[in-house]
Amino acid sequence: MWLTTEFRKGLQSVLRFTVKRNSRTDEGNVREISSLGNRPLNVGLVGGGKAAFIVQPHQKAIHFDGTRRVTAGALSHDPKIALEEAANWLYPIKGYGSYDEMIAANANLPEDQKLDYILIVTPNFVHYDPAMKAIKAGIPVFCEKPLCLNLKEANDLVKAVRKCKIPFGVAHTYLGHWTSRLSRYIIRAGLLGDIRWVDSYYIQGWLATKSEDTGNQQASWRVDPKRAGVSGCGGDIGTHALMQLRYLTGLDVTEVSAQLETFVKGRMLDDHFTIYCKMSNGGKALVRASQICIGYKNDLGIVIACTKGTLRWRQEDPECITICLPNQPDRTYWRGAVTPGDGFLPKNMPADLMAEPTIPPGHPEAFHDAFARLHRCFEVDVRKWKAGKPFACDGSKYANVEDGWMGIAFLETCVRSSSNKGAWTAMPKKI
Ligand SMILES: NC(=O)c1ccc[n+]([C@@H]2O[C@H](COP(=O)([O-])OP(=O)(O)OC[C@H]3O[C@@H](n4cnc5c(N)ncnc54)[C@H](O)[C@@H]3O)[C@@H](O)[C@H]2O)c1
Repeated sequence: MWLTTEFRKGLQSVLRFTVKRNSRTDEGNVREISSLGNRPLNVGLVGGGKAAFIVQPHQKAIHFDGTRRVTAGALSHDPKIALEEAANWLYPIKGYGSYDEMIAANANLPEDQKLDYILIVTPNFVHYDPAMKAIKAGIPVFCEKPLCLNLKEANDLVKAVRKCKIPFGVAHTYLGHWTSRLSRYIIRAGLLGDIRWVDSYYIQGWLATKSEDTGNQQASWRVDPKRAGVSGCGGDIGTHALMQLRYLTGLDVTEVSAQLETFVKGRMLDDHFTIYCKMSNGGKALVRASQICIGYKNDLGIVIACTKGTLRWRQEDPECITICLPNQPDRTYWRGAVTPGDGFLPKNMPADLMAEPTIPPGHPEAFHDAFARLHRCFEVDVRKWKAGKPFACDGSKYANVEDGWMGIAFLETCVRSSSNKGAWTAMPKKI
């Protein structure tokens, strides 16, 4: 009898989710609005060969829904290796010796083989050039963060995207957690009152020693200003903390007092990044990142302290958020298991937010699901754009080129402040 009841409950929960999934408005129904009909979107990779890291979560996320697939790749700067790596790829893809070749070849491909977007997963110094070339060739771009190396490049990219009116996403992974979406709703709807103080952090320990001297591929370019940009730790993970702050609160950083520090001797870029910030509502924030805290893995998190309560979220425990209200027990909200009208959440929660969960709560979603949610939302915009319809690309579902610009503007301002003994320094005017 117990088993039967539990089984029935489980079945009902699955059915409920199936109905929700099919009724999704912002991520779902993508095929109805596309001229591409049932065809999965074709994605071309820039980078990703030879034991590369972030290409793997991305390619899994691209294939998550069956509506996108990787069909081509320019996987290395070395044409010979690029072709070899493509030939040995996990599934058949068309290999190119360079991204120039891949982008040029696209113009002459039959419609069903054309790339619908490219994914840039190269080190930071190889973001601008392929992105700009793809935009000019009319191919939408999903680019890894940080957007590029400096503000000049960022300005050019924003202008090109606006001129060509083309979808452009930046891979700030953690926006893709459903709990980030819920947090954004709670904060922006004012359920916790005015924002006073934010602590947005990303703490790691993997660069606590000089791993770059041990042949660690990922470390070697991250500590090199020519390949990483003006900040090491700040560019690599501080930009995620900044983006999480901006996405959840809707606020901008207006001034910074920054300390960029290098604890590991002989390293050219910061490995510890501590930024005190003034925010656009008059509140204050700490955006901090470190790669020298032994034992810390990917401790990205945020505390948002408001006049009526506090919100806490951590990506190492990404399925829930904590809401603290005065003189009440803390509330934990789990993905997919929130009850509108519970005394804190209002009865009318946004339909698209409530419809988003993919699997019943308790079957944990994590990093790959967050990436999948970003690609899924980007797909919606690409299909609309292909069909000649208005598309959003407004930063509400994934970071856009203006968000990428803001990351670079933040880094340059922090470097200036830090080299001026942490003097309060204003962010440049928004582009
Ligand atoms: N969103 C995230 O959570 C996240 C996590 C890790 C890395 N990243 C970003 O992703 C990017 C890649 O980082 P990674 O750790 O995967 O680096 P990686 O060193 O593991 O991989 C880089 C890849 O780019 C290739 N490459 C280099 N130059 C190339 C060129 N000219 N043409 C084609 N391919 C080329 C390399 O061969 C390699 O395959 C960086 O910008 C990094 O900041 C983002």
